[in-house]
Amino acid sequence: MSPFGKSAVQTAVTSNWKNLTPPNHDEIEKLRKLVSRNTGLQSDGSRESFLSASVMRRMAKLNLNNVTDYIARLRESGVGGTELQELSNMLLVHKTSFFRDRPHFELLEKRILPELARKGGPIRIWSAGCSTGQEVYSLALALMRCGISSEQAQILGTDLSTVALQEAQTAIFPNKKLIGLTEEERRFFEPAGAGLHRISRSLRRYVSFRRHNLVDVPYPRMDDEDWSIIFCRNVLIYFSRSTIRAIAKRFHRNLHPGGSLFLGACESLFQLSEGFSLEQGGEAFIYRRNENGNSTQKRAVPAPRPRIEVRPSVTVKTTSHPSLPELTPDPTLDSEIDKAEAFRQAGEMDNANILLLEARERWPSEHTIGIALGRLALDRGALEEARSWLTMILEKDPLEPHALFLAGLTLFQLGLDLDAAEHFRRLLYLEKNFSLGFYYQGLIISRLGREQVAQRAFRNALSVMDRGLAPAHPELAALPLNCDLIKNACRAKMTTDRSAARR
Ligand SMILES: C[S@@+](CC[C@H](N)C(=O)[O-])C[C@H]1O[C@@H](n2cnc3c(N)ncnc32)[C@H](O)[C@@H]1O
Repeated sequence: MSPFGKSAVQTAVTSNWKNLTPPNHDEIEKLRKLVSRNTGLQSDGSRESFLSASVMRRMAKLNLNNVTDYIARLRESGVGGTELQELSNMLLVHKTSFFRDRPHFELLEKRILPELARKGGPIRIWSAGCSTGQEVYSLALALMRCGISSEQAQILGTDLSTVALQEAQTAIFPNKKLIGLTEEERRFFEPAGAGLHRISRSLRRYVSFRRHNLVDVPYPRMDDEDWSIIFCRNVLIYFSRSTIRAIAKRFHRNLHPGGSLFLGACESLFQLSEGFSLEQGGEAFIYRRNENGNSTQKRAVPAPRPRIEVRPSVTVKTTSHPSLPELTPDPTLDSEIDKAEAFRQAGEMDNANILLLEARERWPSEHTIGIALGRLALDRGALEEARSWLTMILEKDPLEPHALFLAGLTLFQLGLDLDAAEHFRRLLYLEKNFSLGFYYQGLIISRLGREQVAQRAFRNALSVMDRGLAPAHPELAALPLNCDLIKNACRAKMTTDRSAARR
């Protein structure tokens, strides 16, 4: 089997699956529950056609003609069983890359690893949800760069997907996956046939892989659970809040006091776990287990999000077992916006875009859809597109605060500072208690060289936060805000700008 391109499961599937009758509404519901119990995956109505097609492919492969028989097969196989694993392999999202989110690795190499090396003792790193291994090999390279040997440090990569783990173990990657690596990093790859490279033995020595399901109940025990560092990035995003809370508790138990937990850029333990503190290094944020911490310690602070978030992407369930949200046969505007947001957070921008464009056809006069399309375009860096969506909204309603904020940010990123400043002036006229707005206003005005006005904006931001005020507009109030960070950033800008003005 080639570990590249299409997975073994995908390639082995016969093409006659399209002739089968797709699962009906009740069957889809049963399938979703089974998958969720096995993987924690919170799939909603928008992924129904993907689930349906995957099931039909598996049925064709197994020569089954009706879905009832396939469900019976899944049930026979049981949670963790072979057929459920095969189906899960098709549904899991494996997107990853070497040194994904570089600031994390900079923080690791500059602060965390040297700290651990100074302390002495073995360093144990767990990459949970490691996908096809790029994260694990990047960690090995970071250890190597810090002069830490494979005798001192070991990395365990785990994943639920056996297909992904197979690829990780071969350590062979197509050349295109090496894009973005520096010359120095490429030295750790050896040619392995046409268009392929293999990770060098010097790095492979650090790593081992194994299947592990983060949502298994009871939680599968590892031989030694005393981790110095846990990476679990871009995995929790697919889980319900109750599942994330349970996993965070286990991570807390399994980490050394002072140990580090790296989550994905848009994942946060806010209100989900205690006993961790948020720490910043450069542009990265990590959670540290409190030194003397048990889980009754200080509440974990929200991860600052550089981008705009509106609401949680997954349906909130309060049961202790992960289960799927109800099907909504008649989508509502809110449910469509939530689904698009879930896609956006999962990095599936095209799906989010398609969903929003379809929603717009159904509800052509709804401003929230245009705003969501603008935000999505801004996130994708499609600034002109973002500008045109947001301008369209503002032409109809020039004082729509959320659109003013997003349009202001877009114009700022386009370098159109005067226009951006005008948007923020209007926004802050409407919303006096919007600290993030004042902060950006300060940045824009400072770039225009009007230092005194910029200083006033930073002072306003600080004052709003010190007085614990929040914007009246719900979409602005829902934006994640890390007050400590913004305060530090405002103070830093005030000091540097004042000294620049003196010079
Ligand atoms: C998007 S990838 C992230 C890979 C890597 N951590 C990164 O950030 O580049 C998510 C991975 O989580 C794995 N995963 C999903 N549910 C899981 C579970 N219940 N237990 C373990 N791994 C799971 C998926 O198979 C997939 O490989």
